Amino acid sequence: MDSLSNPPSFQFPAGFAWGASTSAYQIEGGWDADGKGPSVWDTFCHQGGGRVFQNQTGDVACGSYTQWEDDLKCIKQLGLTHYRFSLSWSRLLPDGTTGFINQKGIAYYNRIIDDLLANGICPLVTLYHFDMPQAVENQGGWRSDKTVEIFNEYARFCFDTFGNKVKFWITINEPHVVAEYGYEQGLIAPGVTDPGIGVYHVGHNMIKAHAKAWHTYHLLFKEKQHGQVSISLDSDWAEPFDPSSVKDQEAVQRYLAFNLGWFAHPVFINGDYPPLMKSQISSKSKQQGFMDSRLPEFTDEEMKMIQGTADFFCLNYYTTRKVKHQDSSHTKPSIKADQDADAIQDPSWPVPGIEWLAVVPWGLRKLLKFIKDTFKDPEIYITENGFAQIDPAPLDDSQRWEYFRQTLSEILKGVHVDAVNLKGYFVWSLLDNFEWHYGYSQRFGLFHVDFENPKLPRTPYRSALEYKKVISQNCL
Ligand code: GAL
Repeated sequence: MDSLSNPPSFQFPAGFAWGASTSAYQIEGGWDADGKGPSVWDTFCHQGGGRVFQNQTGDVACGSYTQWEDDLKCIKQLGLTHYRFSLSWSRLLPDGTTGFINQKGIAYYNRIIDDLLANGICPLVTLYHFDMPQAVENQGGWRSDKTVEIFNEYARFCFDTFGNKVKFWITINEPHVVAEYGYEQGLIAPGVTDPGIGVYHVGHNMIKAHAKAWHTYHLLFKEKQHGQVSISLDSDWAEPFDPSSVKDQEAVQRYLAFNLGWFAHPVFINGDYPPLMKSQISSKSKQQGFMDSRLPEFTDEEMKMIQGTADFFCLNYYTTRKVKHQDSSHTKPSIKADQDADAIQDPSWPVPGIEWLAVVPWGLRKLLKFIKDTFKDPEIYITENGFAQIDPAPLDDSQRWEYFRQTLSEILKGVHVDAVNLKGYFVWSLLDNFEWHYGYSQRFGLFHVDFENPKLPRTPYRSALEYKKVISQNCL
């Protein structure tokens, strides 16, 4: 045991933001209610074909579109200081543009925001959490440069409509996941498989869209509304498979550059991709006979526009990998092959639910320190962290709370020992919900939702009761 094994203090910083997160498609249901337009997730699920577990859909989900009061009760029961949710773009703008505005969508989100504020809870609002309007996707979605401006216009509309009350905005949730799983592997909506090429164009457009929206806020709204805008980035932590191998250590650097650096480097450092990512893709592209690098380039003007476009750092952390050098020179182009790295799950790490989520609390501490050191010591919010249980899940989830406890303890070391500027922690998720292509088979909630019962009752897991204690004492 090293001297840092026990946190020097169990206290969290004063004013720490205690939250839980959700996203529109995963909880709302009401997929075509009151004039909502379809999103790529409606299409993806309705097409069936076994891409989602048991061909389940988010048509009803937790019913939050009509049962917001029940969600509010859960939020109040926990004593959250913050609640992170996302707006359904196509509920507000059914075809994705301001050509037609759905007043009922505005009324729904106004109610949520007003109720939160009336109860002293601060809303953190994500503009886009995977559910692109189908009408925008039909015109190319993130593959089209035009979507940059369409997104910017949507963002402007949201700032204008809700910005007098919302002070924390997240433009895009996990662009890395959207690009790699939505447009390269086709595992999630829109289910496109365009390995090694499309994936980077999609990322490119999302970075530009985010940066434009940030400028729109700062130019037109900041002075009056005094809010902040950021982007939520997901990342694993990575350790060398063989700590003494220089090749594995370099593979770790590449893995982090391709996962977190892809978006964090342009936004927080210099408006451009990490040098490691650029050189890898460029040399691979050359070997493969491409005229240019498969990674698009930003113009000087774009780099200037992108650099510095986040007012705080939002991290979604779930797991850690051991990374091994792997020579992929003879494989077809793909984002994985571009990394020359194999990411391995240590079999000794517990996997309580979903197979990719190995529990590694200390990985979060190391990742926080890495962010502090690499991205200019930003204010950090952990906008997602959590653990799944496989359905059916026991209400007494003591083991899962133990994982939360260990994670919070690592966070305290990050704050007190590593001096990470951590401002808040949001559990994924408030409720059991539609876990993308895993459907309802994985339960991430602090509250159990009985999806068999038409009233969709919410019941706290033991973790919710324990989390409530931590929040009320601001202390572990
Ligand atoms: C994130 C995503 C969430 C949630 C979570 C658990 O990637 O933002 O919507 O599904 O993973 O898998």
